Amino acid sequence: MSSLINNALEFVKEFFKNDTSGHDYYHTLRVYKTANKIAEKENANIELVSIIALLHDVDDCKLVGDDGKSLKNAKKFLTENNVSLDKIQLICSEISKISFNGNGENCPDTLEGKTAQDADRLDALGAIGIARAFAYGGSKGRAMHLPDTPIKEYTNEKDYHNNNDTTINHFYQKLLKLTSLMNTTEAKRIAEKRNEFILEYLNEFFTEWNGKD
Ligand code: ADP
Ligand code: NI
Repeated sequence: MSSLINNALEFVKEFFKNDTSGHDYYHTLRVYKTANKIAEKENANIELVSIIALLHDVDDCKLVGDDGKSLKNAKKFLTENNVSLDKIQLICSEISKISFNGNGENCPDTLEGKTAQDADRLDALGAIGIARAFAYGGSKGRAMHLPDTPIKEYTNEKDYHNNNDTTINHFYQKLLKLTSLMNTTEAKRIAEKRNEFILEYLNEFFTEWNGKD
């Protein structure tokens, strides 16, 4: 492993230390590991995939407090680690295209960025994805499920981020859309399995909600 990746691992560990939930470091670590696994199958550049995955959330607007678009934390880390300007620009451009933004249209340009995006999205699926969704909804004081509320679709980023919808709605607004948005064959394979698990979970959730056993 290169010293850049080693330093980035140290950096994100320290960076997410102050996060009260403590979850985002482990999210980043999972994304890094999954991205590496996909990169091997897809013959992507491992170092580039790794650095994009490790830095993809260090400027998240939920943590940083600005709109998250300056990417100042990623830029500072890369500059301090003597990464060339060209490479910094490429890495930051790919990071800025990773997030979901309500409509799934955001897409990195390179195989490496696409691989990191797939790994990030895989972490929103399966058992961990379900846990993350309820943890997020809970942290915002949102209801799990309100049976009479229709599922709204958001086409712009601001409305998507500012809504106060239930966590079950989020499954339909984002999670169930992710599998068809995967960029790489390997991620699609993993996503299909995790998506099946979510569908089974929803089935069981509504069965219990409706008082059946
Ligand atoms: P990521 O870090 O994977 O790009 P986000 O920062 O958008 O994702 O969200 C972090 C986690 O919280 C994800 O697992 C996502 O599915 C979940 N999440 C985001 N928005 C909501 C919401 N409105 N309700 C429930 N869970 C959400
Ligand atoms: Ni993420």
